[in-house]
Amino acid sequence: MSLQVLDRQIDGSFDVERIREDFPALAQTVRGRPLVYLDNAATTQKPLHVLDAMRRFYTEDNANIHRGVHSLSQRATDAYECARCVVRRFMNAPDNREIIYVRGTTEAINLVASSYGSIALGPGREVLVTELEHHANIVPWQMACERFGATLRVVPITDEGELRLDTLAGMLSSKTAIVAVGHASNALGTVNPIREICRMAHEAGAAVLVDGAQAAGHLPVDVQSLGCDFYAFSGHKALGPTGIGVLWGRMSLLEQMPPYQGGGDMIRTVSFEKTTYSDVPGKFEAGTPHIAGVIGLGAALEYLMACDRVAMEAHERDLLQYATERLSAINGLTVVGTAPNKIGIVSFVMDAAHPHDIGTIADLQGVAIRTGHHCAMPLMKRLCLPATARASFALYNTRAEVDALADALERVHGLFSGG
Ligand code: ALA
Repeated sequence: MSLQVLDRQIDGSFDVERIREDFPALAQTVRGRPLVYLDNAATTQKPLHVLDAMRRFYTEDNANIHRGVHSLSQRATDAYECARCVVRRFMNAPDNREIIYVRGTTEAINLVASSYGSIALGPGREVLVTELEHHANIVPWQMACERFGATLRVVPITDEGELRLDTLAGMLSSKTAIVAVGHASNALGTVNPIREICRMAHEAGAAVLVDGAQAAGHLPVDVQSLGCDFYAFSGHKALGPTGIGVLWGRMSLLEQMPPYQGGGDMIRTVSFEKTTYSDVPGKFEAGTPHIAGVIGLGAALEYLMACDRVAMEAHERDLLQYATERLSAINGLTVVGTAPNKIGIVSFVMDAAHPHDIGTIADLQGVAIRTGHHCAMPLMKRLCLPATARASFALYNTRAEVDALADALERVHGLFSGG
């Protein structure tokens, strides 16, 4: 069975104007100006293929899964399980059963911290995170370390925003149970050398969890080639709906891990004396899941896979380079995070204007950017900044939109420098 989401077949070529037509939210004006949506690191817009797939599910197939013998329930179950195959292909995972649906990256990391943590952490054991991490890849580990008596250690970064691999090498030891690291930083855009980190961690006998929230919509995700043990991402940052995400884990680890939540659909038998659990992945999918979200996620990943990924990445790299050049030329503006390997994220500060003022003035020009600490307060502290403004790109953005951002920032400079 196919998800049948691509009503209009994408032909594999990369034509940004043609792609923009698939995203209805882009064709609007905001404050009397054409919307320039550059807040893709917070959430991407959704193509019609995703919206149509979800609408089709609710209008034609809506029923609960894994429970009914009737036709609608069978169709809903087929679509739900079919999306699991799509996710497996998207991540090049060895086995469909290693794909676990969760609410998003945050829930995936909490699941691993709690469940894998219960078998891998204890007094004398260590978890390594990095200064680049989003709160979702810090706080669950802090909670797990507190609960299981383990120690949290932090791998530092350079002033440019790159991980200090030399320091990481010295921190890894037989005490290290888990290295938890982002594939790409949501705040600075730095892409971390995951393959190298996995090799180093495995030599020390540690497992690696990759927070892929910021990477999945922009970079190839091949869990076999990366060599990680867990990979988490959210649908909504990869053209899919909110409230749905994926945890991939190695079968050998998932099989050893206890359930994270109890309830319906995760059991084999229940009695008051003893409950036995389903096999992976059912063991980790308690309760009625976000079925429409899963179908929308499958549609989003099919859409991404149908694009020419090489051309898409080249397009986003071009936007990053062009935006870095244009913004760096603005008086009083400093780009924060200049690692050589980045996804399409430009974080910046301006001499006179607070990031929130920058964001507000940009919005008056129809330009949507994010400002604040980007859920990375320890990173802001490391950089001695309270906040940054951040423009983040997706496949449908254009150089003309970068020009609109630069014009808006020139205006900010003019207003705050008295010019
Ligand atoms: N983590 C999301 C961001 O970076 C919300 O904006």
